[in-house]
Amino acid sequence: KFEGLAPTPPMGWNSWNTFATDINEQLVKDIADKFVELGLKDAGYEYIVLDDGWMAKERDANGNLVADPEKFPSGMKALAAYVHSKGLKFGLYNCAGSETCAGYPGSRGYEYQDARLYASWDIDFLKYDWCNTEKLNAEGAYMTMRDALAKAGRPVVFSICEWGDNEPWNWGQEIGHMWRVSGDISNCWDCEDDHGTWSSWGVWKIINMRKNIRSATGPNHWNDFDMMEVGNGMTAAEDRSHFAMWSMLASPLIMGNDLRSATEETIKTLTNKEVIGVNQDSLGIQGFRVSNEGNIEIWAKPLANGSWAMTFVNMNEKPAELSFDWSEHKITDAETGKGLNTKEKTYQVRDLFNHKKLKNTKSKLKATIGVHDVLMVRLD
Ligand code: DGJ
Repeated sequence: KFEGLAPTPPMGWNSWNTFATDINEQLVKDIADKFVELGLKDAGYEYIVLDDGWMAKERDANGNLVADPEKFPSGMKALAAYVHSKGLKFGLYNCAGSETCAGYPGSRGYEYQDARLYASWDIDFLKYDWCNTEKLNAEGAYMTMRDALAKAGRPVVFSICEWGDNEPWNWGQEIGHMWRVSGDISNCWDCEDDHGTWSSWGVWKIINMRKNIRSATGPNHWNDFDMMEVGNGMTAAEDRSHFAMWSMLASPLIMGNDLRSATEETIKTLTNKEVIGVNQDSLGIQGFRVSNEGNIEIWAKPLANGSWAMTFVNMNEKPAELSFDWSEHKITDAETGKGLNTKEKTYQVRDLFNHKKLKNTKSKLKATIGVHDVLMVRLD
């Protein structure tokens, strides 16, 4: 694997959550333009990734993958050049199995050939899925593709998309830069959608399922809580909480909405640099659950230089009054041994969504938090 490509969680956009296989060249160009226009690039988003559906249904006579000539008439190398001209990076998708989940040619048996092709197209990121893999060994299959990318020579962020059945957090560190920890996300707060042979999970289902694998995450190897659903139909409050939690979890921040029609409120959430700063903190520690008080979820994340982020999410169906006495809470990270010691030190407290200084930790933290909304603070 290429070292040093993801010292902090990768940030970008992926086509799947909104467009599924209905993707094309113009869409990618528009998204790249929007990255610049809307300040997303400036906020740190870098990768534009095409998910399933970019290929023609068959390989060519030499066994090479071909970009769908109707969707991508100029070809992938030209499209990569367009994305690069904006100072951004370009990613593609394939699958370890014989076919992708949507039925396009998979990489099985063609790993080295495909890796060479991506390198010749100047691709910077590969998402590698897990459909139609029959009895393949997951770790081995991902190692093969990692080695193929290394051999091809162009640095590529390798995104493992195995849905957790084979526990990639136990073997992914040396293979990929990030690995999915769950099945597909759904644009809902806490639902579980049954699709027959598979099911998808809302934001809190994924968080609750995977909050205990935090030791696997760190610089250059991240637990990936899936592409975000911010802007895809939840309330603005739920979007803020979702974004806050992905930041607390040090998950890659991969947008999954249509940036061409995004509301100002959505963009405000996605470009919140103070919240992004928590996600991109150099220590790369995944936050942990402190407690639940009055159905307010309380989470903490140690940051560099002894700072902390704390997040309070109102799970109630009505607004909640928070009154949090720092002196009554001894918050210790069991994993790293770091502690938030408000007895010995007085921290400055800053509200990261309202961008203002609050009273320091000698006073109680008080706020009214709306339905499914969030109070996120930083302690320095
Ligand atoms: C399953 C993955 O989990 C999704 O993110 C997406 O890549 C689809 N496959 C594409 O078919």
